[in-house]
Parts: sequence; C-alpha cells; structure tokens
Amino acid sequence: MQNDLDSIVETARQAFAKASTPAELENAKALFIGKAGRITELMKGMAALSVDEKKTRGAAINAAKQAIEAALNERRQALADAELDIQLKAEALDVSLPGRLREPGSVHPVSLTMERIELIFASMGFDVADGPEIESDWHSFTSLNNPPNHPARSMQDTFYVDIEGDDGIPYNLRPHTSPMQVRYAHAHIKKYAELAKAGGTIPEIRVIAPGRTYRVDNDATHSPMFHQCEGLWLGENVSFKDLKVVFTDFCRTFFESDDLALRFRPSFFPFTEPSAEIDIQFQSGPLAGRWLEVAGSGQVHPTVVKNMGLDPEKYIGFAFGMGPDRLTMLRYGVSDLRLFFDGDTRFLRQFR
Ligand code: DAH
Repeated sequence: MQNDLDSIVETARQAFAKASTPAELENAKALFIGKAGRITELMKGMAALSVDEKKTRGAAINAAKQAIEAALNERRQALADAELDIQLKAEALDVSLPGRLREPGSVHPVSLTMERIELIFASMGFDVADGPEIESDWHSFTSLNNPPNHPARSMQDTFYVDIEGDDGIPYNLRPHTSPMQVRYAHAHIKKYAELAKAGGTIPEIRVIAPGRTYRVDNDATHSPMFHQCEGLWLGENVSFKDLKVVFTDFCRTFFESDDLALRFRPSFFPFTEPSAEIDIQFQSGPLAGRWLEVAGSGQVHPTVVKNMGLDPEKYIGFAFGMGPDRLTMLRYGVSDLRLFFDGDTRFLRQFR
C-alpha cells in the first residue's frame, strides 16, 4: 500500500517537472490533489476502512499529499524565478525606445550682441575691459561728478549691499558701467607709470567696458538686471567730431545698414559737458522713420578727468554708454525685454 503512495508522489514530481509554464503546472496539480485528483480519490476510498486502518492509512495519504504540495511549491517558485529572469533580461535595455534628445545649446542673444560690439570696437582700436558689479559710492557716483544729493543714489533707484566702504557708505550694485571710465583710467596710468616718470607721453585711452548693471526697475522695457556698454576715448586732441564718426560707424556696422541716420540730441549727464542722447533712425524695415534712443554720450567733464588722475587742461575726450539689451531688441525685433531673462528655451533656441 505504501508503494502505491510512493509511486503517486514520484509521478507527481515528474509531471510537475515537465510543466514548463504556471498554467501547465496548475493542470498537473489537478491530477493529484485537485477535486478529482488521485490523492483525493484515495481519501474518499477510506470510508470502507476500520478505525485503526483509517488512522494509519490516513496518516500515510496525508504525508504523500504534503510531499506533493512541497514538490508543487518548489516547482512554482522555480517557474516564477525563471519568468522573472526572462523579464529582467528582456527589460535590461529596450533599444526600441526613442532616445532622449539633448538639444544643442546656443549663445544668448544679448551675448551675441556683446560679442558684436566688442568685435566692432576692437577693429577701431578699442580695448575691452571688465569691472566689478559691486561698486563703491565713490566710483558709481562721486567720481563721476554726481552731487551728494543726486536722485540716482536713492534706494528707489539703486540697489545697495550690506557692506560699507571706507567712507561709511554701503556698496552698490553698479547702476551703470560708467565707473569703469575712472577704474580703467587709473589702471592705465599705473600701467604706464614708468614711461610717464621717464618723461614720455602715455598712450591715449580707448576702451569699451561691457557688463551687467542693476537698477530698481521692472517692466516690459526695464529689468532689475540689464546690460550696458561704456565707451571712453581720451587723449590730447579727441573731439566731439570723433565721437560722431566712431558712433556712426559703429551703428552702421552693427545694424549692417549704410543708410542709418543718427541724431545727437542735447541732453544732460553729470559726467559729461556738453552731453547728448544718441538716436538712430532706420530708413527701411518695420521700425523705419522712428527715432530710437540707443545711447547717452558727451565730452568727459573736467572734474571726471581730474578724478581719473589726469590733467583736464591736457586730456580731453568723449564717453558714451549704450544698452546692449535694447540693441538686441532692435536688431531682432524683440518687443519684451523680459524674454531675454526668463530662460525659456522656446525663445532662446531661435537664436541658434
Ligand atoms: N551712465 C549713463 C546711464 O546709465 C549712460 C551714459 C551717458 C554714459 C553719457 C556715458 C555718457 O558715458 O557720456 O544712463
């Protein structure tokens, strides 16, 4: 009798081993421990046995059933493991998925303008200088002939940082690139100190200083951070006529247009006298006929020349300050300045 049980268990093991899918395994299970399975049939057949026989036979059948269940579970686990293995191998690298494209970056439109400005002025013999964005009160205002009560100094116009200079006045985020006039002149004089001591004439100053500037301002045409480019040409015989020639040449080259008109409109700046606002006028295109302001300019004020450490009786010249953001808007027809600083790639990639 034990033999028949042993052989059922063995047959079950072989049947489970043959099953190669979970469904086949469940079918095989039904043959042995399902409702009409062989073990179930044997259980039913016990009804006719005596109480003693039931005990021993029942225990033997139960043991066989447990052996079959153990074999079943083992096979279930093996099939599940194999399936997972196949799945892992299949999903390790799905080469059919479309790749994630990394778009090439592009130079920012304002940087394109900066590069353009630098190239054009370099071709006219101008140096390109860089300077600090956190400035002293003296460099931003006093050295440039701003009176102590000048409104540009107010907190409504200029950002201040929590660090005081030697004069007890907080440093500011430079509201213009004009302090670079004085900084560059000082560096220039230092550079040629030996030459000057030996009685030589130091070369004239010809420089532009592009960079970031800051003001308490925010709308479609003003951003709290914006760009300026300062220009300075100082020598013993540099006149307003030179300013007109240089700036006209610059604008026509920048906008690639020979029939661009320029207008020097009288204005006021503390650091120049006389001073002029520079307007340009396109003769064709969507902006044709309108006068558009692009820069402030003027003959450098004698007080500023003195603050540079130079003799105003000997040195004379002009300065100008322009807005590269505005030049970029005009060149590409952009109507809202904020687009430049939002970082939206849909806008920026158009300049690629
Ligand atoms: N610094 C002036 C501004 O921020 C611009 C400017 C005007 C600069 C006249 C100059 C100049 O050098 O001569 O509006």
